[in-house]
Amino acid sequence: MAQPYRTAYHFQPLKNWTFFFTDLYPNGPMIYKGIYHLFYQYNPKSAKWANIAWDHSTSTDLVNWTIHPPALLPSDPFDFNGCWSGSTTILQDGTPAILYTGGVSQKVNLQNLAVPKDPSDPYLVEWIKSPHNPIMTPKEEEKTWFRDPTTAWLGTDRIWRVIIGNKRENRGTALLYKSEDFIHWTEAERPLHSSNETTMSECPDFFPVSIDEENGLDTLEIFPGIKHVLKISAMSSSGSVDNESGLRLDYGKYYASKYFFDSEKKRRISIAWVNESTSKEINLIRGWCGLQCFPRKIWLDSNLIQWPVEEIEMLRTNKYNTGSCWTNPQEIANKSGSSANTGVGPFGLLVLASNNIEEYTAIYFIIFKKNDKFFVLMGCDQKRSSVGLEYVKTNYGAFLDIDPLTEKLSLRTLIDHSIVKSFGGGGKTCITTRAYPTLAINDNAHLFVFNNGSQHVDISNLNAWSLSQAHIN
Ligand code: FRU
Repeated sequence: MAQPYRTAYHFQPLKNWTFFFTDLYPNGPMIYKGIYHLFYQYNPKSAKWANIAWDHSTSTDLVNWTIHPPALLPSDPFDFNGCWSGSTTILQDGTPAILYTGGVSQKVNLQNLAVPKDPSDPYLVEWIKSPHNPIMTPKEEEKTWFRDPTTAWLGTDRIWRVIIGNKRENRGTALLYKSEDFIHWTEAERPLHSSNETTMSECPDFFPVSIDEENGLDTLEIFPGIKHVLKISAMSSSGSVDNESGLRLDYGKYYASKYFFDSEKKRRISIAWVNESTSKEINLIRGWCGLQCFPRKIWLDSNLIQWPVEEIEMLRTNKYNTGSCWTNPQEIANKSGSSANTGVGPFGLLVLASNNIEEYTAIYFIIFKKNDKFFVLMGCDQKRSSVGLEYVKTNYGAFLDIDPLTEKLSLRTLIDHSIVKSFGGGGKTCITTRAYPTLAINDNAHLFVFNNGSQHVDISNLNAWSLSQAHIN
């Protein structure tokens, strides 16, 4: 079967070909002895959410991946319904440990510990569950809402701390647990965070960021003048989003992100799950579902900035001469049939566009003035992303925090068959979307620059590359 929507450099396990609904939430990413490790929630047995294991892949460059046997399989009384989400922590002796949630039934969550069988193996293919499991148990009334431990960190008092996602009094809560030996844990007097804007905090993460440089900080580093980010994947009545201080890390499709400190390149990296927009029935015909977001470097500027890790550039092949690939923007705007706007924009890119622009996904900016202040809106319009397939074609929009009078506007977009990821203003606003064109496939997929506004827009610099296929096996 032709697979036009299979991606070329976004991580997707091969086995997923036979499954139609598997949540590939990333777990415990880390670097160990120079090897990147990625674990993820995966059902090795059947086509639905059950038997959740920690599948395991490694990479030397965050682009090409080797898939190993699952690191954790549900097998014990403390996890027989599934080895759910969690994190890795590099302990003081340099060896890693996994903290993960054991599903005992659909309704009972416990926290467990696992350690490598052979820490001298850089691939860490075998893991042993601790004889002390479970190492954290919930209050009776919270047993369904107690999961997803973060990477732990050591306080200056030499006591370990970890955060557990929780719902308490109907508020999304981040519980704090403490331990002297990583085995015996007790709940701190007060949660680290609690908010009535969410009902359950899934997959929390808590990490330090430098206030004056792009370099990442080790989770263990605590000194004056740094800030911490608390990220929560929020389950709420309005849907699930990845949040930090009420801000969204991505305004499109993006959930359950995980973060780690890359001690070799001194940067903090995020990986997240991106679901399909198509129905379960279509996913079943296609034979796979879900993928991992391409890893992003994350750091603090005036706000959090996210940018694809530099390793993606190794996939660049042909560089296009921009003179020949983007033609007359006005002509394209006319062809594309959108009504003209009277302000500045909408202008931007049409990607995954068919020869005659019947199909396209638009990533655009609109600049408008309100109360003497300029606002930049970044949007993604996918209403025409497919003429042949029905799916949820939500349009996304977010403000981009730049001053259009003094700053240049920039856009970087990664296009990979059925996923389009856009980074506005150097990574200040991110939008991830899925698109399933039926005409704009492979060599028939084009990229155009357009301006549907009435004002002139100058493009000072435009670069485009083909990217080759990553090796994932
Ligand atoms: C979302 C989530 C976690 C849980 C896991 C189960 O990541 O619901 O809260 O641990 O999936 O697969």
